[in-house]
Amino acid sequence: MGPSLSLRENRGMSIDTAEFAGRVALVTGAGRGIGRAIAEGLAARGAHVALVARSSDELDAVVAAIESAGGLATAFVRDLLDDGARDRLVDEVEAACGPVAVLINNAAIVDPLGRSTDVPLDAFERALRLNVVAPAVLSFRVLPGMLAAGWGRIVDVSSGVAVRNDAMIGANAYTTTKAALEAHARNLAAEYADSGVTVNVYRPGVVDTGMQEWLRSRPDGEVATGLPASFRRLHDEGALITPERSAAGLLERLSSTETGQAWSV
Ligand SMILES: NC(=O)c1ccc[n+]([C@@H]2O[C@H](COP(=O)([O-])OP(=O)(O)OC[C@H]3O[C@@H](n4cnc5c(N)ncnc54)[C@H](OP(=O)(O)O)[C@@H]3O)[C@@H](O)[C@H]2O)c1
Repeated sequence: MGPSLSLRENRGMSIDTAEFAGRVALVTGAGRGIGRAIAEGLAARGAHVALVARSSDELDAVVAAIESAGGLATAFVRDLLDDGARDRLVDEVEAACGPVAVLINNAAIVDPLGRSTDVPLDAFERALRLNVVAPAVLSFRVLPGMLAAGWGRIVDVSSGVAVRNDAMIGANAYTTTKAALEAHARNLAAEYADSGVTVNVYRPGVVDTGMQEWLRSRPDGEVATGLPASFRRLHDEGALITPERSAAGLLERLSSTETGQAWSV
């Protein structure tokens, strides 16, 4: 019998608890926010979920929640900015859990923020390494197994700023990374069209998570572009959606065979 997670994330629709039964799903940034909601949703659909983040306490809490709902999850406490850890991750997940059939590249950082000429170059590079290089490397590592199996799903969690490039003034690094991530994903999708492996991007909406809280909490003087105030306004207007609602928009499309698409919540 499949796991019986709460249906709260599914907006009243019934979940097919066998949809991903027997499949291993690797979700980065799965300790909280959107990644946690995606991981719980995949476990509810029968996947064995490999959870990646740096905070072991948060990963332990997600494992406990999934297991208590009858699902299967394994935590991998890793820093995706550590090149060695990043490069070994897929082998380690596959040794512990089995071949990865679903990869959700969700972990990202929104900083550095501020006037672009003031941003330290190492911080700009760090954003590129976490938000673009790590998803690409993980995709390259899972692809051979997915291609051999003739089935795989890769989703890169992006943002609306990938196409609305002037939406977050003072977040040049973040905007650059999400646009690059989408170009990477669509190009990869075209390379592997008709292989059974799909590659899509997901723009999750404006979601009530730690990342949004952090943006709102930046002192206006620290980010001299009005960015924190614009996020406080969105919050006060009630514009944010829950991580579960956002995750549902990805999960409901994951079985489809479409590839090279930008999905939005
Ligand atoms: N929230 C929004 O409104 C919004 C809007 C558009 C797009 N997005 C995108 O949605 C995704 C998730 O965002 P979120 O709001 O849920 O973010 P979040 O609350 O900040 O969570 C980010 C997750 O990534 C992990 N992470 C960060 N740095 C890491 C590292 N070096 N190595 C491994 N894991 C790392 C974090 O865990 P640790 O800190 O423990 O490592 C955490 O689990 C991101 O790609 C973001 O760009 C969010």
